[in-house]
Order: sequence, then structure tokens, then C-alpha cells
Amino acid sequence: MTLGKSAFTAFAVFLGLTAHAVADEQSDALAAEARGIIAQFAEKLKSELTGAIKVDGPLKAIEVCHVAAPAIAADSSAGGWVVGRTALKLRNPNNAPDEWERSVLEDFDAARSKGADVTKLQRVQIVEKDGARTFRFMKAIPVAEMCLTCHGEVIKEPVREKLTELYPQDRATGYKEGDIRGAFTLSRPMQ
Ligand code: HEC
Repeated sequence: MTLGKSAFTAFAVFLGLTAHAVADEQSDALAAEARGIIAQFAEKLKSELTGAIKVDGPLKAIEVCHVAAPAIAADSSAGGWVVGRTALKLRNPNNAPDEWERSVLEDFDAARSKGADVTKLQRVQIVEKDGARTFRFMKAIPVAEMCLTCHGEVIKEPVREKLTELYPQDRATGYKEGDIRGAFTLSRPMQ
């Protein structure tokens, strides 16, 4: 007995749908994992920053951010994940976005100007290259009041001088509360 054409088509469609469902499930699981890593990263950075500002003032906190932010990013980069922060207007040029990250950051800004909730802006992308798949994830970082000391419209001395000394090409000032400062960006190879 041979399989009728319509039954065969139905079977092929079923297989296709199953493959999609599996990919979606895997992608949802990775997105959830990414959000967990980001929550921990943000919490660690915020507590180190707030602690340093309280104990030693914002000048010392710059040093913490200068050293601690890249270190926490490196620590978070476990289990195949690469974790970082990026932005359109940079303080540290090492955080420069690649082409995809730049277009997502531009989309986030456009969504915000149309009234989107910044805390909810995120993007998933699966990239295929030479038969290998990479999962990518970005989540927008809103500007809170405590960020303005170092990223606001008016940066007071001696903070301004220290920032200029450490980051002569600093473009990451002039923000207001609720703006998008940048995004967390994560990637991981997929099986
Ligand atoms: C005490 C000063 C200080 C405060 C307060 C501060 N930052 Fe920063 N921020 C820095 C420094 C210094 C860097 C560069 C870190 C590095 O070298 O990677 C930076 C870098 C960043 C970056 C990476 C992109 C880039 O421009 O290089 C993001 C995103 C960021 N800050 C967001 C925030 C947010 C959001 C807050 C508030 C929750 C905040 N910062 C508060 C000093 C500060």
C-alpha cells in the first residue's frame, strides 16, 4: 500500500510544524535563561554601584564601574553564554554594537518614541552561519535617577573630569530618566 498524496502532504506539514514547535520551545527556554542572567547581572552591578556611591562617593564609584562592569560581564559569561552591554552613544568603545545590535538599538529607540514600555523591550534572533546556529538576545536598559550622576545632562565636577580622563571619547551623557541608555546583549551557540 502506498501513502496517498494528500496523506503524505499532511505528514510532511506535520513534521514541519513539529520542527517549528521544537525550535520555538528551545528559543523560549534560551530567552528565559537570558532574562535570568540579565536580572543577576543588573542586580550585581546596581548593588556594587549603589554601595560604592554611598560609602565613597560617585568619584570612587566610577572606578568600580570602570573595573567591575566588564568583570561582572565576564563572570556572567558562563555555560556557553557571552554577555555584555552595548549602546548607540558609548562611554567605553569596547562596548560598540555590531550591525545587528545597532539595528535593534535603533528599533528600541523608535519603539520608545512611539510610547512603548522601555522595561519590556527585548529581541530574540537566531543566526545561521556555516551550518551552525547562534541564539542572540537583547534587552533595553532604562535610565533610572541614580544613573544621572554619570550619564545625565549635567555632570558635576570632579565626576566630569574623571570620566573625561578615563573615557576621552565619552558620548554617554545627556540622558534623562526613562530614556534608553543601551541594552544587555547575550549570545550562545545552539545545538
Ligand atoms: C558612578 C558613575 C556611574 C553611574 C552612577 C552609572 N554609570 Fe553607567 N557607566 C559608567 C562607566 C564608568 C561606564 C563604562 C564602563 C566600562 O568601561 O565598561 C558605564 C557604562 C555603561 C553602559 C555600557 C555602554 C557604554 O556606554 O559603554 C551602560 C549600558 C550603562 N553604563 C548604563 C548605566 C545605567 C542604566 C545606570 C543606572 C542604573 C548607570 N549606568 C549608572 C559610570 C556610571
